[in-house]
Amino acid sequence: MIIQKTSNSRIQNLDKDNISFGSTFIDHMLVCEYENGKWGEVRIMPYGSFSFSPAMMCLNYGQACFEGMKAYKDQKGQVFLFRPEKNFERINKSAKRLAMPEVTREMFVEGLKALVDIDRAWIPQGEGFSLYIRPLIFATEEALMARESNKYMFAIIASPAKAYYSAPVSVLISDYYSRAANGGIGFAKAAGNYAAAFYPTQLANEAGYEQIIWTDDATHGYFEESGTMNVFVRVEDTIYTPPVSERILDGITRDSFIELAKRRGMEVVVDKIPVQFVINAHKEGTLKEIWGVGTAVVSNRFKAMGYKGERLTLPLLSDEESYAENLKKELIGIQSNQQEDPFGWRVLVEEGVAHK
Ligand code: COI
Repeated sequence: MIIQKTSNSRIQNLDKDNISFGSTFIDHMLVCEYENGKWGEVRIMPYGSFSFSPAMMCLNYGQACFEGMKAYKDQKGQVFLFRPEKNFERINKSAKRLAMPEVTREMFVEGLKALVDIDRAWIPQGEGFSLYIRPLIFATEEALMARESNKYMFAIIASPAKAYYSAPVSVLISDYYSRAANGGIGFAKAAGNYAAAFYPTQLANEAGYEQIIWTDDATHGYFEESGTMNVFVRVEDTIYTPPVSERILDGITRDSFIELAKRRGMEVVVDKIPVQFVINAHKEGTLKEIWGVGTAVVSNRFKAMGYKGERLTLPLLSDEESYAENLKKELIGIQSNQQEDPFGWRVLVEEGVAHK
C-alpha cells in the first residue's frame, strides 16, 4: 500500500453541527486501478478530482457499483466499523453481476481500515454522528464498444455524517414504476438502480410524497423496498419484511434489525407483504407502524401512505412504543460502542494500523 498524505488538511473547516449528507469529504481517499487483468497497488492519497474522457465506459454504459457503510467513534475516541465483511461480500456480488472484476479483502477491508485510521480525526463524536463511507468500482476504459470494460477503478471516499433523513416521511405505493425485475440487477448496488429511481420519485414528490414504496414488477401487489431502503411493517405486535431476492437488496441494516428484533423475542415474519394486507390492517386499526432501513438513514418511519389516489395517515407511536425507534436506538448503541455487542458486529480500527 502506498500512502501519500496531504500537506494541506481541510479539517479546520469541518462544522459538525452543520453537516449536509455526503457533501464534505475527508482529507484522503483510497484508489486502486485495474488493467491487463489485474489490480495494481492500493494508494491512499489526498482527496481530489481525476480527469476522465467523456468516452469513459462507466459514463456511457453505467458499469458502476458502490457500497454504503459507516465508521463510528465512541466516547473514548476509539473507532469502529460495522460488519465490514458484509459490504465486502456484497460489492463483489454486485461486481460479478455487472461483469466487473472482484476486489480483494486486502483492498477492501484492510485498505478501508488504513484510510479510516489516517482520517480518524474527521469522524464526528456523539449521538447519531458517524463517518459515511462510500466504496465504489467503475469502468474507466475509453471505448464506446458496448461490452465490459478492460479498465476499472476501485475507490473509497468518506464523508462525516449525522442522521440522513430524520423526520417521518410520506410514501407513495407504486402501482406502475418498478425498481427491479427478476433476472435484473435489483439485488446489486448498481449505480443505475438509483438513477432509474429518480424519475418515479420526482413524480411522487409532485404528488405530495417524499418517497416511494416499490412493489413487485409483475403484479404491483407486494411491497419490495421503500426509496433506497428495505421496508418493515408492524401489524399488532408482529414485524413483517419481504425476503431478499433477485429484486431486493440484501441490506445489512435490514439483517441487523431482524436479528435484534428476534433477540428481543419479537415475532418477525420474513415473507411477501401483500399491499392489500397493509391496507386492510390500516382499515382495521391493527397497522402500528411502517419504516424503512438503510445504512445512511438507519431507520425512518412513515407518517402517510398513498395508494390509488387515497392518502392514508399512519399512526405515529411514541418513541417508547415504536419498535422502529427502539431497534434503531439499540443498533446505534451497538455501532457506537455504547452497548454490548452480542453478535460481534463491531470491528475496532486500531490506532496506527495504516502504518503497520
Ligand atoms: C445507503 O444507505 O448506504 C444507501 O444506499 C443510500 C444512499 C444511496 C444514500
